[in-house]
Amino acid sequence: MNHRSTDDRGPVIRPRTLLLALAAGAALVAPTVLVAPAANAAASTLGAAAAQSGRYFGAATNSFMLNGQHATILNREFNSIVAENEMKWDATEPQQNGFNFTGGDRLVAHARANGMSVRGHALVWHAQQPGWAQNLSGTALRNAMTNHITRVAGHFRGQIHSWDVVNEAFADGGGGGRRDSNLQRTGNDWIEVAFRTARAADPGAKLCYNDYNTDGVNAKSTGIYNMVRDFKSRGVPIDCVGFQSHLGTTLSSDYQANLQRFADLGVDVQITELDVAQGSNQASIYERVTRACLAVARCTGITVWGVRDNDSWRRNENPLLFDANGNKKPAYQSVLNALNSVSGPNPTTPPPTTTPPPPTGGGCTASVSLNSWNGGFVATVKVTAGNSAIRGWTVRVALPGGTAITGTWNAQASGSSGTVNFANVGYNGQVGAGGSTEFGFQGTGTGPSGTPTCTAS
Ligand code: XIL
Repeated sequence: MNHRSTDDRGPVIRPRTLLLALAAGAALVAPTVLVAPAANAAASTLGAAAAQSGRYFGAATNSFMLNGQHATILNREFNSIVAENEMKWDATEPQQNGFNFTGGDRLVAHARANGMSVRGHALVWHAQQPGWAQNLSGTALRNAMTNHITRVAGHFRGQIHSWDVVNEAFADGGGGGRRDSNLQRTGNDWIEVAFRTARAADPGAKLCYNDYNTDGVNAKSTGIYNMVRDFKSRGVPIDCVGFQSHLGTTLSSDYQANLQRFADLGVDVQITELDVAQGSNQASIYERVTRACLAVARCTGITVWGVRDNDSWRRNENPLLFDANGNKKPAYQSVLNALNSVSGPNPTTPPPTTTPPPPTGGGCTASVSLNSWNGGFVATVKVTAGNSAIRGWTVRVALPGGTAITGTWNAQASGSSGTVNFANVGYNGQVGAGGSTEFGFQGTGTGPSGTPTCTAS
């Protein structure tokens, strides 16, 4: 059976965690009260139990489900949510450059009101593209992709724990290579361009690659592993890998080992869309997945792909933790017990890659990072404002002889060879004091060397 994923969490307010901490503190300073140490007390909800080791436990939901029994269970049990559909490309940009954040905003507001973090799902994916994007190709699609990421991640900036920047870009089957798609046909670098663009749009969010059928060491997960290793070695901003974990009635024996090998590359791992076909093994598979995450220090959280069986995209397989009447299933109890059995290790993960310190004085500076190969290159340019906000910018880049620009995103180029001025576009001219934004271009020949000049307006 096939599978897919998302995960959750982010900059979050956790009032319930805070209350627990305060309660524990109060017990310690009240000498006449004899209570067991808080660490030994079993938590009674999934979110609280996961929080004991610093992890989150999330669920996919939809804004139209935020009422009645679904909302009661969601608010009681989970401390993270993800939009099952409402932050996808077709939902957020139904017309090109016409954005709709209604559903996503409702979910974020619900999360904030209830002390939950939010996973963002998903910025770019071959599926659930709006019709207009399905019909694009080449530079037009590449530019539409970077514009989409900039606008959507920019809209939710500061509110998303982790973004699934790219979803399901690898093929099933033995090759371990990329899946064919309109995005892939824009050039193999589309994934790293997506990550760089996302980092510029929301520097505080962890940026994840997310996929399915990666539930053990296999050709597909190894293809992704090699990409992540390459990204880390070249400074492409990737912080986490999501394992969807849409599971059938068996679980690979190297599920945990696979998570660990990714964590060892220096990224967080997250279980992002967990659901397990109903069967005699359901509770034990849920338990093994939970224990695997708890055993990997950089496994920062688990998200289930829905709340009750009747909410599920696989509803005929009853794959979730609550039945259609909202009752806790045996699988619920096995997950809760597993979470309560371990109080560590705590995931302590570094924040997203830090940005260089802003220049002192007004104006702006620009720096280039280059991904080159024989005959071509992709340049990512970071524009950083000085100690006062700027309203627009122009970056002047000197290209070597014989080099030609074939595509630009997030900027307007004055030409394609020689000395080229890149000016901001409508949505990225304003940069706050010390803040930064990114644009990029690709070309044939050799990439620019040296530091470009930046002029602010
Ligand atoms: C699914 C949703 O659950 C459905 O409601 C929708 O019709 C199709 O998409 N992998 C992913 C998720 O990354 O976005 C998918 O969600 C499930 C597979």
